[in-house]
Amino acid sequence: MTNKELYDTIFVRKSVRKYDMTPLTDEIIYGIKEYASKLKPLDGSIRYSLSFLGEKDARFVIPTKLAPHYLCLYSEKKDGYLMNAGFLLQQVDLYMSATGLGSCWLGFFKPKKEQDAKDGLDFIIMLAFGKPAEQLHRKSISEFSRKSFKDITSIEGAEKLLEPVRLAPSATNSQPWFFSGALNEITVSRKKLSMLKASLLGRFNQMDIGIALCHLWLSLDNEGKAAVFEDNNSDVPEGYEFMAKVKVKDK
Ligand SMILES: Cc1cc2nc3c(=O)[nH]c(=O)nc-3n(C[C@H](O)[C@H](O)[C@H](O)COP(=O)(O)O)c2cc1C
Repeated sequence: MTNKELYDTIFVRKSVRKYDMTPLTDEIIYGIKEYASKLKPLDGSIRYSLSFLGEKDARFVIPTKLAPHYLCLYSEKKDGYLMNAGFLLQQVDLYMSATGLGSCWLGFFKPKKEQDAKDGLDFIIMLAFGKPAEQLHRKSISEFSRKSFKDITSIEGAEKLLEPVRLAPSATNSQPWFFSGALNEITVSRKKLSMLKASLLGRFNQMDIGIALCHLWLSLDNEGKAAVFEDNNSDVPEGYEFMAKVKVKDK
């Protein structure tokens, strides 16, 4: 799977919530495991691990039979681990969509107690996946329900670079991101939440930013540029909080 194939998939992907419950073949699962073993991290110092659950091994807090397979991400809880989780699993979400599989982020589900931790790492988030039993891809950009450019950036001329980022998925489709600064040094911030919303969505919003950074990395890569992610704080618009700085370099 090339970065270009992942990039192209951004423009058609969608969450799939109806699955053929027939388990995928060992060969397909092997392909996913192989791809997932080589993900690019946002922060390579954060330990994480992935675990594949079948419909029979997955026991959820809310009894449900959503998909034949689940991919759980476990991580150490170090600074930036939620953004890292979003950045990592979005690569798998795109890989699945690019290979004809359906997937959906599941923030409101958890495996049962015995799968809450693995190798000393905590359960963070999971993806449901399998053969889709509904349309896999969107037919046009107009099918995406997303904010307009003026609501997500103040950078002049950033439309082409940020279009794939604008289309990124987020929990409850909240799209909490904002991009300021300049085309060669982009400051990424997220909308501040009220106390009530923060207790419900704060964790997810940080994963959402990681997802957006994954799409930004692929967008830069598509333009022959490299992204260097930094966490040195810089000014953000009022009502937003700083999340990351992205320095753009020639490859
Ligand atoms: C961190 C995260 C958690 C999510 N949790 C759920 C969930 O629990 N159930 C669900 O049906 N969709 C969930 N979603 C999917 C979003 O609702 C979806 O990505 C968003 O509405 C945009 O739609 P799209 O993915 O079809 O483009 C989640 C997405 C993210 C990024």
